Amino acid sequence: MSAPWWRTSAFYQIYPRSFRDTSGDGVGDLEGIRRQLDHVAWLGVDAIWLSPFYRSPMADFGYDVADHCDVDPLFGSLEDFDRLLAEAHAHGLRVIIDWVPNHTSDQHRWFQASRSARDDPQRDWYVWRDSPEAAEGQPPNNWVRAFGEGPAWTWDERTAQWYLHLFLPQQPDLDWNNPQVQAAQHDVLRFWLDRGVDGFRADVVHLIGKDPALPDDPPELAGTSRVGFHDEPRTHGLLRDIRATLEGYDGERTMVGEVNLSDTEALVRYYGAGDELPLVFNFVPLHAPWTAEAWRAVIDEIERCYDRPARWPTWVLSNHDEPRHRTRYGGDERIARAAALLLLTLRGTPFLYAGEELGLEDAHVPPHAGVDPGGRDGCRAPIPWTGEPDHGWTSSEPWLPWPPEADHRNAAALRADPDSILHRYRALLAARRASPALREGELSWLHAPADTVAFRRSLGGDERLVAVSFVDEPREVAVPGDREIEVASDGVGDGEPFTGTLAPLQAVLLR
Ligand code: NOJ
Repeated sequence: MSAPWWRTSAFYQIYPRSFRDTSGDGVGDLEGIRRQLDHVAWLGVDAIWLSPFYRSPMADFGYDVADHCDVDPLFGSLEDFDRLLAEAHAHGLRVIIDWVPNHTSDQHRWFQASRSARDDPQRDWYVWRDSPEAAEGQPPNNWVRAFGEGPAWTWDERTAQWYLHLFLPQQPDLDWNNPQVQAAQHDVLRFWLDRGVDGFRADVVHLIGKDPALPDDPPELAGTSRVGFHDEPRTHGLLRDIRATLEGYDGERTMVGEVNLSDTEALVRYYGAGDELPLVFNFVPLHAPWTAEAWRAVIDEIERCYDRPARWPTWVLSNHDEPRHRTRYGGDERIARAAALLLLTLRGTPFLYAGEELGLEDAHVPPHAGVDPGGRDGCRAPIPWTGEPDHGWTSSEPWLPWPPEADHRNAAALRADPDSILHRYRALLAARRASPALREGELSWLHAPADTVAFRRSLGGDERLVAVSFVDEPREVAVPGDREIEVASDGVGDGEPFTGTLAPLQAVLLR
């Protein structure tokens, strides 16, 4: 049996607000994504993930959903979505979309009903509680919210109770212990599955199961957002039901769950016995520094914890929540190129974040110009498509400043330059597609100097070697056999025999 498509695909994350504006309001839209599908297909990824485009008051830029089954007018319409989906499929690209199960916007009709009266039929769709008996006027427990400071509870004057929100007060948590909530969210999945999407990225899906007793966090964790440690057994049953809804289609629909746990053993339990999440994000590598030691350790831990066949790793270097990896690693483009080679040759499903193929760094957003409550504006800068003053967007000012060097670091300029990082990404994606060893093969270590990482990927008779240098000096790597450079991160020597020397901060894919 061949591996399911989500194990062999490279995904490309699109943050719709920042991709391309065609309507003139400075915010990206679905039509802008449609017009850039040529770029995405030319790059050579297999699937795209669209961050939220649903109706939303945008307190969390779309992760506060006010209607799961409609497109916010800022982004277009359902017709625009259908057109985008059809054209993506025609380009051979699968499409997964964000699904936000844990919370809604406070403007969602479900919450409007819930907060209208204590005896409203939808009251118990959300988590409402009184103050503790012994602590009049205090929140029900010591949980704190993500973003800013303060309790994960807001007092509602009208009905004189607190509601729970692990994020902003404008993002009340749904109560997944309520079967009606489960049914409603499964209906949302079906709405989009029926429309033809290939799957979902499930937002903070590890948060949905909650102990109705809502016990206090232990003292050592008090004051820390639960998002990083909430790990509740009842979530697993909910995930098995969700998987069953996906399987109710043609066996071709998937889900990648966002699970923000830093303990890899806990994280892999979200695959269940192959009956929970088909894929789970792992952000441990994203938080690792760019050193050989750190990367050996994360790769070792993943090889140790991901039992076959139920569990298959994922790899992410950048997304809309974290500073871009080029910025995190200090800005040197050679490192960004080497990191791309590593991302696309490791054992697992890689997720690229739009703009990393251009080697983008975060935009400098001065504090007064920041708009995100979580301070994540820099990595959400608009994508520059051309060197024109509007960079292929519209004449109006985009919602965030352009990333650095947009005059020459834009898609058109890099596409015209065969030595650019963009062409390296394309070469790597093509090499990945062509090699069963890279797509599905096992990984084993090669002996290599301490400040390098080297491994073999193999499947049947197909084999590739990878060597990555983390040091700004040449390094000798003794690889077995005579090898040819298939893709070098700096573009030097592609197709030539490998001499055994890695240039400073270089990475190579060998065959
Ligand atoms: C994770 C998303 O990636 C992030 O952008 C969002 O703010 C939170 N979940 C809340 O939905």
